[in-house]
Amino acid sequence: MKVNHAEIVISAVSKKQYPGDQLPEIALAGRSNVGKSSFINKLINRKALARTSSKPGKTQTLNFYKINESFYFVDVPGYGYAKVSKSEREKWGGMMEEYFGTRDTLQVVLLITDIRHEPTKDDIQMYEFLKYHELPVVVVATKLDKIPKSKRASYIKRTKETLNVEADDIVLPFSSETGEGKDEAWGILSKYL
Ligand code: GTP
Ligand code: MG
Repeated sequence: MKVNHAEIVISAVSKKQYPGDQLPEIALAGRSNVGKSSFINKLINRKALARTSSKPGKTQTLNFYKINESFYFVDVPGYGYAKVSKSEREKWGGMMEEYFGTRDTLQVVLLITDIRHEPTKDDIQMYEFLKYHELPVVVVATKLDKIPKSKRASYIKRTKETLNVEADDIVLPFSSETGEGKDEAWGILSKYL
């Protein structure tokens, strides 16, 4: 896809702030620091429209990026970061329920995992949460540049097995560093737009 236009429309913390223009949405989900914001930037060829950081917890709100005036990427705060208070965790949970549980324009969720690591309990819980809400899920195993080519197949297999993905669900190897998987990602996403 050729991206001509990308802009942040709103950083939302509650439903009444979500955009009301009924455009289709693609949301990201995944652990803190896994590379969700970097994924968006890579797909739209922008270095830093979605703010990234080497420290976990950079994205704290639901950030709606309008692309080509035709759909949204929704960047979502990550989970699994240990230094988070109970009240912050509860706030995060409420935000997730409200968005994933009620958003009619949401077409597909990209669950981002780190290909180097076995998916965590939190990743499994998120996958099951999305399935519970009957949302289409594509798993994106990112940071592919960090492992040797010879190990890719076995790491992808482990990701599939640990998440116990349904047979039809895609697990896409990806790197925001090298752009590997980018064309495949657009190919998959265009079916939902
Ligand atoms: P939160 O907003 O905290 O939930 O994090 P996030 O999932 O949005 O992660 P972010 O995109 O900010 O990236 C976290 C760190 O990982 C940054 O230092 C990125 O440069 C790095 N990173 C992201 N994707 C890749 C990748 O594909 N390869 C490599 N080598 N580094 C990556
Ligand atoms: Mg982020």
